[in-house]
Amino acid sequence: MILRFLIWALLSSSVCIAAEPILPLHSVATDERKVALGRQLFFDTRLSRSNEVSCASCHQLATHGADKVPRSKGVAGRLGDVRAPTVYNSVFNIRQAWDGKAIDLKAQVTLPVENPKEFATTWPELIATLNEDKSFVSAFEQVYKGGLSSDAISDAIAHYERSLITLNAPFDLWLQGKGPLSEQAQEGYHLFKYYGCINCHQGKNVGGNMFAKMGTFGDYFGDRGTPIEPADYGRYNVTKREADKFTFKVPGLRLAARQAYFFHDGSEQSLEGAIDTMARYQLGRSLSKAELAAIAAFLESLVGHHQEMTP
Ligand code: HEC
Ligand code: HEC
Repeated sequence: MILRFLIWALLSSSVCIAAEPILPLHSVATDERKVALGRQLFFDTRLSRSNEVSCASCHQLATHGADKVPRSKGVAGRLGDVRAPTVYNSVFNIRQAWDGKAIDLKAQVTLPVENPKEFATTWPELIATLNEDKSFVSAFEQVYKGGLSSDAISDAIAHYERSLITLNAPFDLWLQGKGPLSEQAQEGYHLFKYYGCINCHQGKNVGGNMFAKMGTFGDYFGDRGTPIEPADYGRYNVTKREADKFTFKVPGLRLAARQAYFFHDGSEQSLEGAIDTMARYQLGRSLSKAELAAIAAFLESLVGHHQEMTP
C-alpha cells in the first residue's frame, strides 16, 4: 500500500523545472508607449509602397503570427523566397530570419521595408508618407526625442514584438506544477528528449537559439524533388562559409502545431509529416505512427495564448 502510494506520488508530482531542457515562457520588459506605437505601425498598410500590405498581412496575429501559405504575397502579389515564420516569441531568437541575417528585432524591420517582394519601398519614401499624418508625427515626438525616423519606427515595432509572447501553454503550466498534461503529450515530450530533438529545439522557445544543417542524416535537398534555390543555402548566404551551406536557424516550435506549412521552403503540409522528416533527416530514424502522434500531442501542448489571438 505504501509502495503504491509512493509510486502514485512520484508519477503525479510535477517535474523538477530546473532539470528540464525546456523552460516556461515569460514576458519581457517593454515600454508601453512604444508598444502602442509599434502596434499601430504593425497593422499600417502605409508602410508598403502600394498601401496594400502591412506586417500583419503576413504575420497574422489572430492565428499563429504567420500566414497559411508556403510563400507570402507582398506588394503587387509578388511571392517571397521562403515561408513566413511566426513573430510570436521571436524576441527569444538569437538572430532573426531563417538564415539569421538580422541581428535582432530592431534590425529586422528594414528587411521587409526594402524587400522588393514585401513593402518594396525605402526609408526616406516611407518617412515622407508618414510625415503627412500630423497626429502620427506628434505621437512619435512625444515618445522619441528625434521624432519620426527609421530608428524610431524600428524601435517601436521591436518593442511591440517584445510583447508578443504566448503564455500559459498547457506544457508550461504542467512544468510548473499548475496543470495536467495528457499521457500522450508526456510520452511525446519523453520521445522528444530521448531521440534527441532536444539537441536542437531547446530552451524557452523550443528552438531559436542555434543554427543547424537541414539534412544531417540524409540529402534533404536531393530528395525534395525540386531544384535547389538560392534561399536553400541558408546561413551560407550571410557568412559565405562553406560549412554554413544548407544551415538554418532552428525554428522555435511554440506555435508549430498551428502552422499550415513547415520548413523554410514550406514544402511540408502536415505537422506529423514535418516530425517524420525531422526524425529521418536530422536523426536518421524512422518513427512509428504512435510516436509521431505522441510528439504532435506534445507540440500541441506548447501552444500558449496572447491577447491578440482569437480564443
Ligand atoms: C510579404 C510578407 C511579409 C511582410 C509584409 C512582413 N513579413 Fe516578416 N517575414 C516574412 C518572411 C517570408 C520572413 C522570413 C524571411 C527570411 O527568413 O528571409 C519573415 C521574417 C520575419 C521575422 C523573423 C522571425 C524569425 O523567427 O526569424 C520577423 C521578426 C518579422 N518577419 C517581422 C516583420 C515585421 C515587423 C514586418 C513589418 C515591418 C514584417 N515582418 C513584414 C514575411 C513578411
Ligand atoms: C540537428 C538539429 C535538429 C534536430 C535534431 C531536430 N531538428 Fe527540427 N529543425 C531543425 C532545423 C534546422 C529546422 C528548419 C529546417 C528548414 O526549415 O529547412 C527544423 C524544423 C523543424 C520543424 C518545422 C518548424 C517550422 O516552423 O517549419 C519541426 C516541426 C521540427 N523541426 C520538429 C523536430 C522534431 C520533432 C525533432 C525530433 C524528431 C527535430 N525537429 C529534430 C533542426 C533540428
